[in-house]
Amino acid sequence: MTILVTGGAGFIGGNFVLDWLRDCDEPVLNLDALTYAGNLENLASIKDDPRHCFVRGDICDRALVDSLLATHQPRAIVHFAAESHVDRSIHGPGEFMRTNVTGTFTLLEAARAHWNALEGSAKTGFRFHHVSTDEVYGSLKPNDPPFTETHPYEPNSPYSASKAASDHLVRAWHHTYGLPVTTSNCSNNYGPYHFPEKLIPLMIANALAGKPLPVYGDGMQVRDWLYVGDHCSAIRTILAKGVPGEVYNVGGWNEMPNIEIVNTLCALLDDLAPGVGGKASYRELITYVADRPGHDRRYAIDARKIERELGWRPAETFETGIRKTVEWYLANQSWVGNILSGSYREWLEKNYASR
Ligand code: NAD
Ligand code: DAU
Repeated sequence: MTILVTGGAGFIGGNFVLDWLRDCDEPVLNLDALTYAGNLENLASIKDDPRHCFVRGDICDRALVDSLLATHQPRAIVHFAAESHVDRSIHGPGEFMRTNVTGTFTLLEAARAHWNALEGSAKTGFRFHHVSTDEVYGSLKPNDPPFTETHPYEPNSPYSASKAASDHLVRAWHHTYGLPVTTSNCSNNYGPYHFPEKLIPLMIANALAGKPLPVYGDGMQVRDWLYVGDHCSAIRTILAKGVPGEVYNVGGWNEMPNIEIVNTLCALLDDLAPGVGGKASYRELITYVADRPGHDRRYAIDARKIERELGWRPAETFETGIRKTVEWYLANQSWVGNILSGSYREWLEKNYASR
């Protein structure tokens, strides 16, 4: 038995692979193109683990995917690979359409051919799990109820539109061809190995460098935050117990405005690494900058279905998860340091210089 993970050198995929091999002995075939967001350092602790087979390759490469499926005969595919950053999708949407839409289509077609050739329990047990986002549902008003699985799709950014398109493909491959798929739509993750283009790791990295903490607009946009280990456990639960064709919303029951997140990070850093930025408090570095175009105001997840039907709930509270996360970044500054060069600097220039 083996599973195929796509995007397993990224933030969530990497955490998923590490947690999987911590909890069981089933091998993982890890297919990742190592874009700017993919990083083999995330997998350093399993570098010599014979249960982990890493293949550098593109999910749009049908011949490669076909040959991996034929050689390794995975019993499941867990599909993380994507372009994942909303701001980058605004600056350049093309790669989002290629990987998120064409890549998912390519994987679905390869999975369908593979699955069609299976028989008996190999066929009935096969799963294609698609990892998606709450952003496909669009933006909520302050008093709207949180997103359920039947909320209409109203994606507002090129990123969320490409993820919405991929969700629709996955759904159609089940309804038309019977491919045994499951989909999860999850809220904002945080935790170890989070690429420092995203809010939480960017704020930690900038604070420790004494640089401004760029808060978009009024900082009152609301997100639901989930510790990455909890997202990984939700996916393992869906893989084990989820029903083909079903969608599960995954969230942390933890809505917070961005400015509160940034203030929490500053308070933790004031406690754990005082004075590094050369200020009495890291809060002095907070700088309001021009808003993100089309910025969604609020996301919130109703995660009752996965709790009721599959018995999953997050284990971590925001307080415990965010402290662990800040401690991880403080203990792994060389991991961040290795990223803060080259193309990352170009990205900072492109996204922040004219704000
Ligand atoms: P990430 O950007 O950190 O990692 C993406 C990984 O995919 C990288 O390792 C990259 O090299 C790889 N990749 C990109 N294009 C590829 C291609 N064409 N072929 C093969 N590999 C490719 O992303 P993440 O934050 O870990 O997100 C993983 C998945 O979870 C995505 O599908 C994302 O939409 C979804 N998601 C993310 C969050 C979040 O808060 N980060 C929340 C909900 C859902
Ligand atoms: O909701 C799930 C989604 O969460 C995932 O699908 C995406 O892959 C993931 O990137 C994340 O999207 P967001 O756009 O919510 O995450 P980001 O960390 O980029 O931003 C979080 C909030 O913080 C958002 O309201 C924008 C704001 N922000 C972000 C950055 C990078 C700032 O105020 N300043 C910043 O510099």
